[in-house]
Amino acid sequence: MLGVCYYPEHWPEEIWADDARRMVETGISVVRIAEFAWSRMETAPGVFDWSWLDRAVETLTSAGLKLVLGTPTAAPPRWLVDLHPEILPVDRNGQPRLFGSRRHYTPASPAFIEATRRIVTAMTERYGHHPAIIGWQVDNEFGCDDTIFSWGSLDRSQFQAWLKTRYGTIDGLNTAWGNDFWSMALTDFAQVELPARQVCDVNPAVQLDFMRCRSDLFLDYFRLQADIIRAQAPGRFVTHNFMGFSHTFDHFEMGRQMDVASWDSYPLGRVESLPFPEAERNRWARTGHPDISGLQHDLYRAVGNGRFWIMEQQPGPVNWANWNAVPERGMVRLWTWEALAHGAEAVVYFRWRQYRKAQEQMHAGLLRPDHAASQGGKEAQRVAEDLRRIGDLPATTPASVALVFDYQAAWVTQFQPQGKDFDYRMLKLRWYEAFRRLGIDVDIVEPGASLSGYRLVLVPTLPILTEAALKAFAETDALILFGPRTGSKDENFAIPQSLPPGPRLQHLMPLTVAEVESMRPGLSASVSGAVCGTVTRWRDYIETDLDILSRFADGEPALVAAGRLHYLAGWPEADLLNTLARYLLEKADLAILDLPDHIRLRRRGPLTFAFNYGPESWTVPVAAERLLLGEAELKPYDVACWRM
Ligand code: GAL
Repeated sequence: MLGVCYYPEHWPEEIWADDARRMVETGISVVRIAEFAWSRMETAPGVFDWSWLDRAVETLTSAGLKLVLGTPTAAPPRWLVDLHPEILPVDRNGQPRLFGSRRHYTPASPAFIEATRRIVTAMTERYGHHPAIIGWQVDNEFGCDDTIFSWGSLDRSQFQAWLKTRYGTIDGLNTAWGNDFWSMALTDFAQVELPARQVCDVNPAVQLDFMRCRSDLFLDYFRLQADIIRAQAPGRFVTHNFMGFSHTFDHFEMGRQMDVASWDSYPLGRVESLPFPEAERNRWARTGHPDISGLQHDLYRAVGNGRFWIMEQQPGPVNWANWNAVPERGMVRLWTWEALAHGAEAVVYFRWRQYRKAQEQMHAGLLRPDHAASQGGKEAQRVAEDLRRIGDLPATTPASVALVFDYQAAWVTQFQPQGKDFDYRMLKLRWYEAFRRLGIDVDIVEPGASLSGYRLVLVPTLPILTEAALKAFAETDALILFGPRTGSKDENFAIPQSLPPGPRLQHLMPLTVAEVESMRPGLSASVSGAVCGTVTRWRDYIETDLDILSRFADGEPALVAAGRLHYLAGWPEADLLNTLARYLLEKADLAILDLPDHIRLRRRGPLTFAFNYGPESWTVPVAAERLLLGEAELKPYDVACWRM
């Protein structure tokens, strides 16, 4: 399905019907509406005006469109802020963040919870049984603009209560956090401060707990809305639109509460926001890095237990990155097909028409402000034509390689990078990229998920090893590669007594990480042996009697193995990752295909898709008559598809 985000509240009613007709003509079948329209729905406390939304729903659905309704809680109205200023989130300096954009609330505020209950109940009472409303999106992009955090007194009390539940007694907390250090011992939970504005380093154990606490708070907030929706809109799916490369709360936990996950795909903005070298940024400025979207599709397929949507797809230049390029001609279509190839059930473009006013006036839509179709609009229409030609897409089948992704790993390495450039987002992206460059499909899995059926499991790093994760590693027959810092912390952010990778992994793989080193840019260590290449950024110094497959130039172990388990003692650069990937894939008996850096493949059931992210053509490895989409010479920014 193709869809679009639409804001009837921005447009005169006279054009709604024509918009609906043109959406259908474009090949759109589902429309998301209403997620920021709180002030139009509830005009004063408890005073609802549904008339305009009734008419919008009627206009769109009578054109044959299905709807996803967003609850509007990301945009609390002015009257609510006036009545309850305490709903505003508080910044790290103790200042309330002000009204005038969006996401200006903390769910630690009981008044906000009450207001949420009221609007979501009223909205679902009104529309819950509408036959053309197929799903509900809760809120909009939790965490956008640093809004998981709030540092006010309500947040502090909520944190204190959360800690009391976790530790029971203040002594328990003192022990867990190591509060004998620097005289930090407390005698009451009421003394706990939020981890902001301390004079110097904050205890990373406190930061980790605060993160867990906020993650739970937003999970509860999601659940509150989801429960109301499920009670009043039975049979409709419930989702939330996650952001790409956003790690500020545990998406797996929230995904378990959803019928389908969804995420918002803005490939060009991501090239700007991730710490790529400048040359690479320039290279992918108009296409997006070829693995940025794929990695997130694979993540959200896992978050949604196999089901995901793209709830917002970049349709052209956006407004919010440092620089905002026009995508190469063809990329909007390519991104759409790539999402579908990775298993997306729907791709919903953001937005229908560019709005001449307010914050996003420089953000493209499928239509230009003068109502003509934009380049993105034309490409969306082409996807609709492609889809009519190809017919129903087959189900996605599991890959042979899995990559373990963990939110706690993101938090631990963020709070204690130890080296400035130890960035978990880049680590997982680089590992993923190395295997995708060899034509391999990669599933993302959470720690503790069953690994049965996989032949190779990649663990770029996993500082906190849970029982469930260890059990899954012990039970699979797959080869496993653990990266640096795995097992380096316990639940409470302490170094294991037996040193990393901790007693339970040491039981399977006897080795000790005796010292660690972060390396400044420009420093590196070369590796040779079964795998060769360069380590930068991070090095573990290992003591072990295990088989040493590769060594650093100074003779220290770089890659060691205990049967099917492998441990890599450093941050691998592309050269090392490439030989590692080949070595492990061969050992796992998986076929590789050497691809140019701008080509990616992805299978969906018996279909194989090829994507060209670069300016040079590529010859597809299949006879022309087998092609369902594209040509034997895959042109720049084009897509091909064939049946195996
Ligand atoms: C998303 C957000 C949308 C819109 C879009 C612009 O983060 O959910 O409402 O702001 O970005 O790219």
